[in-house]
Amino acid sequence: MNRVSTQTSPVSTSTMNKLSTHYMGLELAHPIVASASPLAKNLHGVLALERAGAAAIVLPSLFEEQFNEEQAALSQLSDDTFASAETGAYFNIDHAYQNTQESYLQLIEDCVQRCEVPIIASLNGCSPSGWLDFSQAIEAAGAQALELNVYSIPKDFNQSAESIEAELCALLQTLKQKINIPIALKTSAFYTSFGHFAKRLDDAKAVDALVMFNRFYQPDFDINTLQITRELKLSHAQELRLPLTWIGMMYQRFGFSLAATTGVESSDEVVKYLLAGADVVMTTSALLRHGPAYMQKLKQGLSDWLDSKGYETVAGMRGALSLARCPQNDNYQRAQYIETLQAYDFGANFR
Ligand SMILES: Cc1cc2nc3c(=O)[nH]c(=O)nc-3n(C[C@H](O)[C@H](O)[C@H](O)COP(=O)(O)O)c2cc1C
Repeated sequence: MNRVSTQTSPVSTSTMNKLSTHYMGLELAHPIVASASPLAKNLHGVLALERAGAAAIVLPSLFEEQFNEEQAALSQLSDDTFASAETGAYFNIDHAYQNTQESYLQLIEDCVQRCEVPIIASLNGCSPSGWLDFSQAIEAAGAQALELNVYSIPKDFNQSAESIEAELCALLQTLKQKINIPIALKTSAFYTSFGHFAKRLDDAKAVDALVMFNRFYQPDFDINTLQITRELKLSHAQELRLPLTWIGMMYQRFGFSLAATTGVESSDEVVKYLLAGADVVMTTSALLRHGPAYMQKLKQGLSDWLDSKGYETVAGMRGALSLARCPQNDNYQRAQYIETLQAYDFGANFR
């Protein structure tokens, strides 16, 4: 396949306008990005998101497990090609699996050729093995950046928090050495000291952005059938508070960009995340609920809010409610926890 090589466009301040934003070296027309979802699973969907006004588009993830299965099927094919009477069957597997990696790269190429907005590829996995080499093919296919989603459950109770963080940091440093496009880490908040972990990544120059936070789909129990179940529910606005708090505390503390993900239901949440200090705000659930055209509503809502408050640019309001700008505000402190509990008016439930 003929791969297209692209460079990340240099940041220029001359073209800054009301909504424009910089995200890990990419210059975006505004701060609202379509996060990884099935809406971008093919060129048709990506073009629809671009038409609807997404400032950048994250492609759905290629999973480490998918990659490894494909590699296993391919090596099985080469081991057995001359030995097995059923070679034809392996050729079928080969063809089917080849689709995964090849079609992902083809999607990147097609999107980069057809879209004006940056295309961010996504890998999802956590072991520091050969699958990371696929990042080089992603870069060669023309993706302007790579998002790495590292969802993993630390099931080994002998492994310390320190060693989990060290392993992840080393994985990102390995990835950094492989490619030249910017790398965003889509992470969870569940680290013993998330701020310290972020500082470690920053000190190691291991990432260009943090995407905060990964939303998990924990299992549930059906108490009638005694089954362990799973169901994907789209997010709601209340879920924004955890990422909002951390973005608010991390604004202007580190060299990497901050992307907010989870809980954008309307432009109000976009505004809140920007007030906390996010460089970009990502959305999936809202677009799945209302369709890609909802992107335009989010953008218009942000623009109207800026006008209503007299801000000329997004840059002017970014971080206005962050800890850096409101150091005395005890809402980022333990005091808010105590006061919130004590101020709860339980009598209202019984009136
Ligand atoms: C159906 C669906 C598919 C998703 N696929 C991916 C994926 O492939 N990779 C990924 O990193 N996140 C994926 N996500 C997570 C979203 O990108 C996003 O981070 C999450 O839904 C929280 O944002 P939201 O509150 O705007 O939905 C998916 C979410 C949904 C609902």
